[in-house]
Amino acid sequence: MISATHTFPRGFKWGSATAAHQVEGHAQNSDWAQWETLPGKIKENGSAAVACDWWGGRWREDFDRAAADGQTTHRLSVDWSRIEPRPAVWDDEALDHYRQMVSGLRERGIEPMVTLHHFTNPLWLVEKGGWENPAVVSHFERFARKVVSVLGDHVDWWCTINEMNVYAYNSYAEGIWPPGKKDIRLCFTAIRHMLMAHAAAYRAIHELQPHARVGVAPNILLFDPARPDFALDARVASFQARSFYEAIPQALHTGKLLFPVGGWRERLPGVAGTMDFFGVNYYGRRLTAFDLNHPGTLFGRTFHSAEAEVDNMGLNELYPEGLFRVIKWAAGFGKPIAITENGWGDNDEGRRTRAMLGHVRQLWRAVNFNLPVQAYFYWSLVDNFEWERGWTQRFGLYELDLETQARTPRAAAKLYAEICKSNTLTAEMAARYAPEVVPAMFPG
Ligand code: GAL
Repeated sequence: MISATHTFPRGFKWGSATAAHQVEGHAQNSDWAQWETLPGKIKENGSAAVACDWWGGRWREDFDRAAADGQTTHRLSVDWSRIEPRPAVWDDEALDHYRQMVSGLRERGIEPMVTLHHFTNPLWLVEKGGWENPAVVSHFERFARKVVSVLGDHVDWWCTINEMNVYAYNSYAEGIWPPGKKDIRLCFTAIRHMLMAHAAAYRAIHELQPHARVGVAPNILLFDPARPDFALDARVASFQARSFYEAIPQALHTGKLLFPVGGWRERLPGVAGTMDFFGVNYYGRRLTAFDLNHPGTLFGRTFHSAEAEVDNMGLNELYPEGLFRVIKWAAGFGKPIAITENGWGDNDEGRRTRAMLGHVRQLWRAVNFNLPVQAYFYWSLVDNFEWERGWTQRFGLYELDLETQARTPRAAAKLYAEICKSNTLTAEMAARYAPEVVPAMFPG
């Protein structure tokens, strides 16, 4: 009996992703550390308190596991509030801590990608108006320069800002993240400043490190028309897609920021051509129906279809084909692509392994269509603090026991290790980990 083997190109990079605040613990100086102490902000009163204790040194054991599992890259972030606790005052111990972490990755044969901003801000920056104040652009540039000058011996792959769209939306439109504001105009202002800060950092990084690869990682949430034959659904869905994510790579490509909503059009000087790679964070899709009762979401009601398979919290639809579609779209910007995040947060282990098989299969399809995707970072290596969801949604390859800090591999960790080590996905793996998917994935 022949077993089908999906082979990835030699040198394809397999890894996992984490973010400072979600794994480190012991943070004091950031807006999130403060926000978590306010009642009602985090599900079940969770907090990142000790988290995965990376600040206490447990990154070592997690990196050991990643290396033993065949991962060859890891995306991590640095916490601005630790490195620059006061304006232009640098904490050498914190910088040294990060230096040890990135050299620790190299020692284990793992290439680091470092994200400079992953949702959290120093309190001094917040006092100056955070991302609402245009001064943030030069503050971020100064911070980027410092980080690159200290970590640059070990790192040349940089993601400036993670999911500027999710950050701006949750912090300034929905108000569920700090600073908790609800004003769509501030949401656009924040994105505008993030694009400019990215561009300033892009130039600074290249000045210090001409060979650096610098990109961003927006969240690409697909919006599909609920009734494909109803023109208004398609129109509103495309409006949402353009406003939520398409505007970001377009601005970095052309220098023009176009938000269909509010008719925001602007040329941002120095922003064009500041993307060496396109980082894609993909978790699923929503359906959109035109609905006059939903002005806040551009007259589109978004939901999951009745047939959709969703996680136990009802947040994300398991829609692996979307990963292929997103890669195909991203390729239109003419840059190499890295899947900077993709994963599945659920309490159903069967669905977690099915999700992995489905997404990796679509990744393979993309690679075989010659789409320039070069790396895949699974979110996440170990269960970590999921922002307003606290510890109620678990994404880890490794399960974390918060009481004891013990890590236990999930079935998905074992499957992922097989994929990483062999650089393949096989029908035989699918049969062992999720036999129910075999007839559809490998018919015949
Ligand atoms: C992304 C975010 C990560 C993580 C992930 C899973 O939006 O960048 O920090 O929380 O979602 O929910």
